Amino acid sequence: MSDATAANDQPLIFREGLLDGQVALITGGGTGIGLGIAQLLARLGAHVVVASRKAEHVESAAQSIRAAGGSASSETVDVRDAEQVQAMVARIEQAQGRIDLLVNNAAGNFYAPSESLSPNAWRSVIEIDLFGTFFCSQAVLPAMKRQGRGRIVSISMTLHYRGWPLMAHATAAKAGVDALTRTLAIEWAPYGVRMNAIAPGPIPTEGVRRAFTPPPSASGQVPDMFAVEQAMTSYAKKAIPAGRWGTPGDIANMVAFLASPAGDWITGSIFVVDGGEWLARNPAPQMQR
Ligand code: COA
Repeated sequence: MSDATAANDQPLIFREGLLDGQVALITGGGTGIGLGIAQLLARLGAHVVVASRKAEHVESAAQSIRAAGGSASSETVDVRDAEQVQAMVARIEQAQGRIDLLVNNAAGNFYAPSESLSPNAWRSVIEIDLFGTFFCSQAVLPAMKRQGRGRIVSISMTLHYRGWPLMAHATAAKAGVDALTRTLAIEWAPYGVRMNAIAPGPIPTEGVRRAFTPPPSASGQVPDMFAVEQAMTSYAKKAIPAGRWGTPGDIANMVAFLASPAGDWITGSIFVVDGGEWLARNPAPQMQR
């Protein structure tokens, strides 16, 4: 299943038209989990604005959603830049008249030892994951206040529930995202804004599949993709209590639930959607001594 079809292929479990008339902004919405979320929200009737740094990703994502019958537009933005974020939100309000849902999905991370992490590497991840979440949330607040209603869902992670070597930057950022979720939930509840987070488990986006694929051999032999799928299935059976990898649709369904009227009395909550993976997680990767 490719990123582009991940959520569109799944049966719709919410009623059609559930989000009719709503406008949803999904950062990092051009690929992977973000695209799955955008596809589902569009199938439920929302106009989705797909935003990311890469114009080619967001334009093709919006186009694929429109081709499937949904309503979508795209925005190019670096969420680390508060001015760019404000300008994007102003354009969306101008074009759509409202913003009902923000999904803070844009993130950046990589495995790297913290002792040699450069200041710029640390700053990049903290700024994308944490500053970006704050800047986007703050920017949509005036529209949500005017409407007397709004939903914000931030995509977090589970790695910071324990230590997770080589991910100091991302775990610190996502711990901050969890803290923001709880604090802003209280501050902004009187405006009708509900602020929650989702901590996804392992989702085999193209990047994960690549990690399971051996590099091409010197003789140019192509990797056996059937063996790759088998290795991934056996990993899931071993490491994920629910016995399978997650899909972008698993995360998207939780976003849709929170965006629906069912989410009206839910705020400041962090939902782990991971098939039980983090509870049963093997010891963290060992550091080389
Ligand atoms: N190990 C150590 N440092 C790394 C690194 C790695 N694997 N990858 C990037 N960095 C460092 C860069 O060297 C740079 O630091 P420097 O200026 O001191 O050399 C700094 O991080 C910023 O990297 P750069 O790629 O130039 O910045 P960016 O702002 O364009 O993008 C990321 C930041 C995190 C998005 C980018 O590094 C990236 O593409 N990461 C992997 C993909 C990813 O995160 N996808 C989203 C998954 S949720």
